[in-house]
Amino acid sequence: GDNVLYLAHKMGIELEGACEASLACSTCHVYVCSEYLDKLPEPVEREDDMLDMAAMLQENSRLGCQII
Ligand code: FES
Repeated sequence: GDNVLYLAHKMGIELEGACEASLACSTCHVYVCSEYLDKLPEPVEREDDMLDMAAMLQENSRLGCQII
């Protein structure tokens, strides 16, 4: 699908996606600009759980594969 992880790969941006968008890793961790952050739906609980395991977690952290 056209999530941020997929789009990044399409554009040659290096971003891991170890679990292929099945919410079982945090390797697709990205920071979202504040401008867009508010426009995204809230993360589901599983995304939050995975984000908790991400390194360098920030206020604007999301999982790239969950941003559509
Ligand atoms: Fe694993 Fe996004 S690729 S959660």
